[in-house]
Amino acid sequence: MTYPSVITTDNSRKVSPLPKDLDRLRMPEHIAVIMDGNGRWAKEKGLPRTIGHTAGVEALKTTLHLCSNWGIGALTVYAFSTENWSRPSEEVNFLMTLFESVLKRELTNLKLEEVKINFMGDLDPLPIGLKDLIKESVESTSNSKGIHFNVCTNYGGRRELVRAAQKLAERSVKGELDPSLIDENVFASELFTASEVDPDLLIRTSGEKRISNFLLWQLAYAEIHITDVLWPDFNADTLAKALLDYQSRRRRFGGV
Ligand code: IPE
Ligand code: IPE
Ligand code: MG
Repeated sequence: MTYPSVITTDNSRKVSPLPKDLDRLRMPEHIAVIMDGNGRWAKEKGLPRTIGHTAGVEALKTTLHLCSNWGIGALTVYAFSTENWSRPSEEVNFLMTLFESVLKRELTNLKLEEVKINFMGDLDPLPIGLKDLIKESVESTSNSKGIHFNVCTNYGGRRELVRAAQKLAERSVKGELDPSLIDENVFASELFTASEVDPDLLIRTSGEKRISNFLLWQLAYAEIHITDVLWPDFNADTLAKALLDYQSRRRRFGGV
């Protein structure tokens, strides 16, 4: 599928023009981001890690706004992994409270910017207040015509694959699906990303060179851009650099 490219503004922010050195016709349709380095950003400043997460929210707002303005169809971000529960409970609790307060505060702007928000992951274990707000924000933006904004929350790539296998098995046992007809398209239709094209570009901040259980299926042919910039410092310049890097690649998809 292709995405509508709607240029909108939330009234409080100016429309950001596309930097001149970027080719509007060769923009990725879908960008995925591993937003990493909040803790190190705070540590460098002698601040608690929680301040890093709060600063990270501002970088995310900027990135979403820029992607929307620059004609990106979908932005999928890694907010909380299935492995992040292993962090100290104070940090996990802080993050859950932060997600809820930010979503509450930003929902009106998201609607004004025509953002279609979705959450990907196992949402069951999240606090009830956050779950309710997620439901409300997904439903109330479901007809939005702008950028698809997917927030991976309690998301793990392996868990997503197991879940898809279970769903296919259930349909097969019920006699609704002939197992011999399961192909890549049928499989992908059971993933959280069923309605999205695969990401063209993966950005990871903070210099770590790993996938950390993110979109294991969907990133099969994504171009990967790793920057040493810590997530709270990510901005228009660093996004433009990632896009320039992307536009310099020759995507071969196994061909010559
Ligand atoms: C990413 O920043 C945010 C989440 C994983 C929620 P980190 O919290 O991982 O920051 P670092 O990697 O410790 O610097
Ligand atoms: C990946 O970052 C998860 C998110 C950004 C939400 P982590 O900080 O959890 O990844 P590792 O531990 O460095 O692999
Ligand atoms: Mg990290």
